[in-house]
Amino acid sequence: RRSRIYGIWRFKEFLPIKTSNPITMGEGSTPLVRVEKLEKLIGVRRVYVKFEGANPTGSFKDRGMSLAITLARESGSKAVVAASTGNTAASAAAYASRASLLTFLLLPRGKVALGKMAQSILHGAIIVEIEGNFDDALETARRLAQREEFYPLNSFNPWRLEGQKTLAYEVFEEIGVPDHVVVPVGNAGNISAIWKGFKELKNWGYSDTLPRMAGIQAEGSSPIASAFKLGLDAPLFTENPETLATAIRIGKPVNWFKAWKAVTESSGTFEVVSDSDIIRAQRLLAREEGIAAEPAGAASIAGAIKLAQNGYFNGDETVVCVVTGHGLKDPDSVKFHPTTRLRAMSVDDAIEKVIKSLMERS
Ligand code: F0G
Repeated sequence: RRSRIYGIWRFKEFLPIKTSNPITMGEGSTPLVRVEKLEKLIGVRRVYVKFEGANPTGSFKDRGMSLAITLARESGSKAVVAASTGNTAASAAAYASRASLLTFLLLPRGKVALGKMAQSILHGAIIVEIEGNFDDALETARRLAQREEFYPLNSFNPWRLEGQKTLAYEVFEEIGVPDHVVVPVGNAGNISAIWKGFKELKNWGYSDTLPRMAGIQAEGSSPIASAFKLGLDAPLFTENPETLATAIRIGKPVNWFKAWKAVTESSGTFEVVSDSDIIRAQRLLAREEGIAAEPAGAASIAGAIKLAQNGYFNGDETVVCVVTGHGLKDPDSVKFHPTTRLRAMSVDDAIEKVIKSLMERS
């Protein structure tokens, strides 16, 4: 009996590594969800969410991690090292456990969301909390990776991006090539990976169009998007990035050039959204469409809304927003949302309060 292959390894002919024994948990094959209420708000024909929160560790990082950890094991490394704002860490910890590799995670102290921290602990990684930001952690990873004992798992490792490009293939299988793909941008790897996937489909003769890529950064951590909007031709690196979307709190994106190329080659754009735009988008997605995104994941929705307000869309397009991480990753972010919590002293009291609450609302 042949076992079914799920996720990114369905596309193994398109991946640049040959292995008969990948380290996999069925990453990829995530839902593409049509979001009709957001369609009305954004004012285009179709809007889809590619929900990367549905990956095994809850973010798109698993696509690339499966590939990178497979290679780490085949290279005979004893240990892997990753700098992270949290999701790469959680994914690395999980996949490295499966491959029986020792995992060192370099994290900016106090700036990693609770769920990601919990995952890294649960999978038994060695956690190094650095007094500094992600950019300092990445510098540490780069230096450690010069020693042959350590296999690096950051996106300066090109294999990660080869795994992440499979998102484009999946979208194409379901709806063909969309007009726009909107992607949150931090270290700037994912947007270039997705663009690579769509370009391959065209170069190999599967499709004859390309999407326009829109990269979204958070105000306060927008070295690429702010510079692009000012008409500059290189980013404005920042020493002190800030945003409540901690996943994309990055001042010196290592892959900025690839992201810049993806946007300019595709006649796309970059946009900046505020933290309050992000929280509003997180709420809309959760309360109108049932999709839980962590703040950075909701940045693509906030970006699409802002682009619509600026007249970027003509109304006839299909837009895919990549929601990069699950809402469970960042439980603290719910403090920004209004909630109704009733306290009851007994069964009768609870029933009375529920009925009263229903009456007030209908
Ligand atoms: N969204 C989420 C949820 C992320 O975790 C990240 C990056 C991004 C978007 C941005 O992707 O860096 O390819 O532009 N997180 C990295 C990490 C930095 O360490 O988990 P990018």
